[in-house]
Amino acid sequence: MLGLTIESSCDETSVAILKDNREVLSNIVSTQIEIHKEYGGVVPEIASRKHLTNISYVVNEAMKEAGISFKDLDYIGVTHGPGLIGALLVGVSYAKSLAYALNIPIVPTHHIEGHIAANYITHKDLKPPFIALVVSGGHSHIIFVKDYTEFEILGKTRDDAVGEAFDKVARTLGLGYPGGPEISKCAESGQATYILPKTKFENYDFSFSGIKTAVINIAHKEGKKLNIANMCASFEQTVCEELVENTIKVMKEKNITKVVLAGGVSANRLLRKMLEEEAKKNNFVAYMPDLKYCTDNAAMVACAAYYNFINNKAYNIKDKLDLNAKANLKIGE
Ligand code: KG4
Ligand code: ZN
Repeated sequence: MLGLTIESSCDETSVAILKDNREVLSNIVSTQIEIHKEYGGVVPEIASRKHLTNISYVVNEAMKEAGISFKDLDYIGVTHGPGLIGALLVGVSYAKSLAYALNIPIVPTHHIEGHIAANYITHKDLKPPFIALVVSGGHSHIIFVKDYTEFEILGKTRDDAVGEAFDKVARTLGLGYPGGPEISKCAESGQATYILPKTKFENYDFSFSGIKTAVINIAHKEGKKLNIANMCASFEQTVCEELVENTIKVMKEKNITKVVLAGGVSANRLLRKMLEEEAKKNNFVAYMPDLKYCTDNAAMVACAAYYNFINNKAYNIKDKLDLNAKANLKIGE
């Protein structure tokens, strides 16, 4: 079985060809980071326009690298949400046209389900059920993955997403975009000397706007005296502790022994190390995606699309011409 999947929810135009459930034949990622860097974040209008000029090229590259022809394809997968609406629309429209022209099913897929599925590509033996800690630029969720297409959100951020907090703190400290890798790099030469607030709720929710504001306040107060490397180390340490402590608490209380890390922030070295160590201490097993599958890419969405496809979540495009992108699509919707 061969599927072509398109991901264009933010600032990466990506197309992957997946064979059966987990074999990636190609995964082309065309990133716009260099363009958006200049503005300190993603400019939605520019992102959509860039997707539009990139998409045909990226589709053709993915086909070429996989060494297949369009008539070999069994389905078209696509991220239909959540994300930037204009960006998503480019991928969804292209996918609809391809499915129509080739007369094969279309499989609309949730971006976060894709991030979780990145782990199936990396760990060929991984199967649900497990807990997923999803940390990206738009999401911070603890999800109970009951089955390949069955999800229950157990906890989520009440304000900023983790990646968003990394990006905003980086901007405050005068570091570049995206902020996550910049803070992480800078933290290597610092020590966690600043005391920053951690939040604790009765349930499994998170909050990251308090810590972000604390960093901004200290930065304003200390001005030139601020030790940026130490602040980066303190911020990274505190955020990772909050994420890992909450996740381990869920696992203990729900009696679930497997955890997977997902989303762009899963590339963070400290978070990976901390989760791994805490899991081991509790006799749990932690899975993390290969670094190349952490940030946005179509291979991860392709894998989630495959499981949707075999679980009857595919459509004949002629019956689904109204398929649309949805900026705030909920998981499992
Ligand atoms: O999953 P992703 O590529 O896009 C969304 O779906 O949002 O995640 C992007 C986010 C950005 O906020 C970026 O700063 C963060 O992931 N990120 C990191 C690291 N690499 C990327 N955050 C912390 N440490 C990293 N090494
Ligand atoms: Zn993402």
